[in-house]
Amino acid sequence: MAERLGRLEGKVAIVTGAGSRGPGVGNGKATAVLFAREGASVLLVDAQIERTEETLAMIEAEGGIASTFQADVTNEEDCKSMVDTAVERYGRLDVLDNNVGISLRKTVPEIDMDDWDKVQSTNVRSMVLTSRHAIPRMIETGGGSIVNISSGAGIEAIGDAAYTTSKAAVIGLTIAMAGDHGREGIRVNCVAPGVVFTPMVEYRLDSDMRQHRRNSTMLGTEGTAWDVGNAALFLASDDARWITGHVLSVDAGMSVISRHAYPNWQV
Ligand SMILES: NC(=O)c1ccc[n+]([C@@H]2O[C@H](COP(=O)([O-])OP(=O)(O)OC[C@H]3O[C@@H](n4cnc5c(N)ncnc54)[C@H](O)[C@@H]3O)[C@@H](O)[C@H]2O)c1
Repeated sequence: MAERLGRLEGKVAIVTGAGSRGPGVGNGKATAVLFAREGASVLLVDAQIERTEETLAMIEAEGGIASTFQADVTNEEDCKSMVDTAVERYGRLDVLDNNVGISLRKTVPEIDMDDWDKVQSTNVRSMVLTSRHAIPRMIETGGGSIVNISSGAGIEAIGDAAYTTSKAAVIGLTIAMAGDHGREGIRVNCVAPGVVFTPMVEYRLDSDMRQHRRNSTMLGTEGTAWDVGNAALFLASDDARWITGHVLSVDAGMSVISRHAYPNWQV
């Protein structure tokens, strides 16, 4: 069994998008496993409930505590039920990891406006809906931690106008909620993953593209969902007790390379 340090011992966490869209380990799945490994009781939330089965099995195999819950995080009733269920099953709510996100890969002239609305609703409105029900329950027990999953694409053009707009909004929402709820004991932070290799992107990357992505980082390596999960775990835990309103890039330095100073960086 993996080593447990108990960094979330006695805490209750919700992870949205706790399944993965394909075989392998995505960000939500890795985060849920790490939270449980550190002692949290975890509600594994996904619109496609069968996707959470493998996450649950991984946690139970390590002796962790978790259960699954079906919810569409674009639906407010589902978000309320999700929060109520976490409190009913485990007695309190300390951590909310807002992980659900989808991409589109279209330019503004190409985009169908219903698809645009779907991306904004799934990536941003969902975080408002989950948080507005989670925050009052966190306040009841003295506070909590919200971790929103943005993306390096929130501050960088990647050929996906809807996604970049939504992930930039996630950063704004994080800062706004951190300001509004700090005095209520709630920290709100953001993880901005770079080119991590997960089922979300696997289908569109061949080995040349993966090497190109590695080359685009300072470290020359590819990230995994566990890198994203470990960042979320840090921000969720009391190790980050004095950190709020922060955007943590998990990208091997990709976002801070100057293309001007290093014009031939991507080789
Ligand atoms: N993989 C990357 O390279 C990368 C990079 C930067 C940011 N991210 C971000 O990481 C997050 C997702 O990571 P993942 O690896 O867990 O993705 P994933 O697509 O493998 O899993 C996400 C899960 O969310 C669920 N879901 C989708 N819409 C939902 C909804 N409306 N309600 C409830 N559940 C829903 C899906 O069923 C799926 O199981 C996203 O926010 C994404 O933007 C990923």
